[in-house]
Amino acid sequence: MCGIVGYVGPRVAAPILLEGLRRLEYRGYDSAGLAIQATNGLEVVRSVGKLDNLSRALEGRSLLGTVGIGHTRWATHGRPSEPNAHPLVSGDVAVVHNGIIENHVALRRRLEAEGVVFKSDTDSEILAHLVHRALERGASLFEAVKATLGFLQGTYGIAVLAGRQPDRIVVAKNASPLVIGLGEGETLCGSDIPALLGHTRQMLFLEDGELAELTTGGARVETLEGQLVSRAPRRIDWSPTQAEKSGFKHFMLKEIFEQPRAVEDTLRGRIRVAAGEIEGAELGLDPAFIDNIDRVYFLACGTSYHATIAGRYWIEQLARLPAQTEIASEVRLRSPVFTPRDLVVAVSQSGETVDTLAAVRTAREAGAYVLAIANVVDSMIPRASNGALYTHAGPEIGVASTKCFTTQLVALLLLAIHLGRRRGVLDASSTASALEALMAVPSLMRRSLERSDEAYEVARRWHNARHMLFLGRGLGYPIALEGALKLKEISYAHAEGYAAGEMKHGPIALIDDEMPVVVVMPHDRHYEKTLANVQEVRARDGRVIAVVSESDQVASTLAEQVLRIPDAPELVQPLLSVIPLQLLAYYFADLKGTDVDQPRNLAKVVTVE
Ligand code: M6R
Repeated sequence: MCGIVGYVGPRVAAPILLEGLRRLEYRGYDSAGLAIQATNGLEVVRSVGKLDNLSRALEGRSLLGTVGIGHTRWATHGRPSEPNAHPLVSGDVAVVHNGIIENHVALRRRLEAEGVVFKSDTDSEILAHLVHRALERGASLFEAVKATLGFLQGTYGIAVLAGRQPDRIVVAKNASPLVIGLGEGETLCGSDIPALLGHTRQMLFLEDGELAELTTGGARVETLEGQLVSRAPRRIDWSPTQAEKSGFKHFMLKEIFEQPRAVEDTLRGRIRVAAGEIEGAELGLDPAFIDNIDRVYFLACGTSYHATIAGRYWIEQLARLPAQTEIASEVRLRSPVFTPRDLVVAVSQSGETVDTLAAVRTAREAGAYVLAIANVVDSMIPRASNGALYTHAGPEIGVASTKCFTTQLVALLLLAIHLGRRRGVLDASSTASALEALMAVPSLMRRSLERSDEAYEVARRWHNARHMLFLGRGLGYPIALEGALKLKEISYAHAEGYAAGEMKHGPIALIDDEMPVVVVMPHDRHYEKTLANVQEVRARDGRVIAVVSESDQVASTLAEQVLRIPDAPELVQPLLSVIPLQLLAYYFADLKGTDVDQPRNLAKVVTVE
């Protein structure tokens, strides 16, 4: 999730690029840069931090070129730093890239062996070197980019400049978006529509496996196989604000719908499909340490804490290691016992939560090995840890965490499978089936999202309710907690999440004919027991809303309303059952008219105790 913008035309490019980047800052903001064609070659300016730093770096420089590319970065490979900022350069070639090049390590080794010197830690720099080498062999920029793409595995949206053909930009796309804007005597490109809206509304959407050459005369599009593509541009009437949210009403809703893509990015490059193995090096964990682990100890707050409850269950089940999870703010108050044989896993989307950070420091002081699971690369918690496993969900703008939660779940499940395999608990075939289940998640999530109208109907029925109870067992328990937290955070309704087995120990007293009770109960080993809870709620006139598997025949007839998720192996069900609950919270809050993206009293990053 980074932002790309490019311009070819009669006007001075730098201010147009800067304005485009400003409109894309919601996609990433840890560093930014521009490359402009100047009379004496390429001018490249990059800076760390928000775009204002780049503006300041440009002050006093007269960049008058009329062709250029720009980028705002959300780090994935390589920390936010000036050398890792885009555009990345090799000779007279400058490249901006969104996406992840999965085989970058192998490609880099090959080029280094041939004497190429890399200046960044990014996966993207490989592109600049490969294009440059092809140009040196006499290819045109277009052919050089096409040849480079042939070497790549992974995802990309790219824009490329070369000093030797200064009147054009070559762009290409595979899985990361790339839009071309057709103006009068000028052509633009961007990773997203908002970057272009100030200049044109005629947009040409590149498809996967296509590349295009942009000049003042427009765009020539070809497939990688060399077939000319003729596609009519579409007129986009969105306002810039609508466009930032890709047409969704709120960032939260956009982020809920981004989850299949986010999960794909968390998995990308981390699974060796043919071997049915996890790429251990990608998990930020020292292999020598794994065999000596005595216990896995999770630390987190809020939604991230809920993810760790599932993490704990997975570690116990798949790696057969003792595991516990603790609310980080509580750990700080106690005298926790950590040992050097503890694997402490600190989970935090922001990587900055002060309580989690303090608990990490306590664990490290006691000699424990700390692995951070975070979304923000090089944030405080990963820096304070021994290793980091990044979720690559892209920036999350809505205060209520959604895609960061599901990608945390994926990271935790990967970790559990990896530990289980490495420690000999899982054999090759059970590893392969766990990975298969995981890899099917994005498409199952898409199917889940297609049922958003069911969540809307439940929200419509209940959005005036003042209380709601959420119940679940096993892996359904953290999802019940998360469903309740989502609802209370953004709708301000009182919601409680409970382990279904605890219902009789207190919450049952709350149940009457005005109490909606959401029961998370896809087909799993606890189904019959949870069904008994449904009967108990009904016997007290409670109103049951059941999250069930698509093929469910029983609970669905007992519940007043149902939220269906696709049938899936138990291991990955939490990744699906949370979706209708996120949607329920969203629609509920929206119908009430609260500020969904910035709910009262809450902050996206909690840096105070
Ligand atoms: O950045 P973190 O994951 O460490 O944040 C922890 C909590 O503050 C966070 O999950 C909070 O509960 C969210 N608002 C949940 O939507």
